[in-house]
Amino acid sequence: MHGSSSYQTRLKALPGKIAEDWPKATLSDLTEDKARHQRLVVKCIFWMMMGGEWLSDSDAAILTGWRTNASFFILPRFVQRLAFNFGINKIKQLRIDTVKVIERRRQQDLFFEMNNALPPRFRRDTVVQLCDETMYAVGFAGIGGTCAMCETTAAFMQKQLPDEFPSGQVNFGGYDSKAKMIEAYKKDNRAYLKECCRIDPPVTSATSVLKENQDIILNGVWKEFQAGTLRQYTLSLANRDEKTFEQPKVFNPLRTDLNQALTWNGAYGTPGDEKNYPRICPGRYLSLDVATAIFDLVVNNEPVPKNHDLHMQSLTAQS
Ligand code: HEM
Repeated sequence: MHGSSSYQTRLKALPGKIAEDWPKATLSDLTEDKARHQRLVVKCIFWMMMGGEWLSDSDAAILTGWRTNASFFILPRFVQRLAFNFGINKIKQLRIDTVKVIERRRQQDLFFEMNNALPPRFRRDTVVQLCDETMYAVGFAGIGGTCAMCETTAAFMQKQLPDEFPSGQVNFGGYDSKAKMIEAYKKDNRAYLKECCRIDPPVTSATSVLKENQDIILNGVWKEFQAGTLRQYTLSLANRDEKTFEQPKVFNPLRTDLNQALTWNGAYGTPGDEKNYPRICPGRYLSLDVATAIFDLVVNNEPVPKNHDLHMQSLTAQS
């Protein structure tokens, strides 16, 4: 999708839409007005995926529910029941409201075309079912993940910790001022975003099914697990593995092992990533394209530190 000319046309127009929507947004604006920040990310994702449609604030606010309700998605069934299905009902309503946004924006035709184009065995009985399933993926993985990435990036650039980030899990190393953070971003914006996500992955774990019986050591004891067993792997721990990453807690967008991070369910950026990681996130390019469009603008809206401030910073760093 990211290679198509219509995708590239929308991507080219995206900075203009962002600047119009939130003129002169700065990093502190993004952290202080998180709801507006999330609406902006939603509008960008929708623009890129839904044929260049820029959402209103009220429709974007509905779709931010895919980020703000994130904790409800991961609760096990029995916890949901203990909470009288409050979380499940919220998500059900969110799915209904999301399909209504599609209707209001007159985007149904896209899903009619998609359903007709599917081979008969995959075709859904109703188009609304396909719309719901597609928007579930766009919302949960796309909106939730990209919002999380942008929130972490805005915080790290100001040397702050994002919400729910455990203290002591990042060392900003040589990047000891906002000016140095911005400089690092400008040097290589994609590497900067990838390093933010290595340290604070938007999706912390993923699941798969064992294809064959496997012996695994659990708490020092070998156990055999049958093929078909469900398993969960923790991306956030893999991204801090000392065997793979040199000084894993140190924030360093220039690290040579950066692309070994499994943030997008595979080592994105290594040769043959799609072949080696068949379930690598299909939205990885889109998420980085949206985040770079936002941050390329925002860092340029930051007040330029006067020479005097930079001089003082380097003196404090030396002392
Ligand atoms: C920073 C942003 C994102 C991160 C970190 C991320 C990460 C991931 C991860 C870890 C998975 C595997 C989950 C699992 O199998 O349990 C996944 C799957 C997926 N992602 Fe993303 N994602 C992001 C953005 C997006 C975007 C923007 C889209 C599209 C709008 C998207 C669409 C998908 C889909 C459809 C899957 C399921 C693929 C499959 O199972 O074959 N993601 N993503």
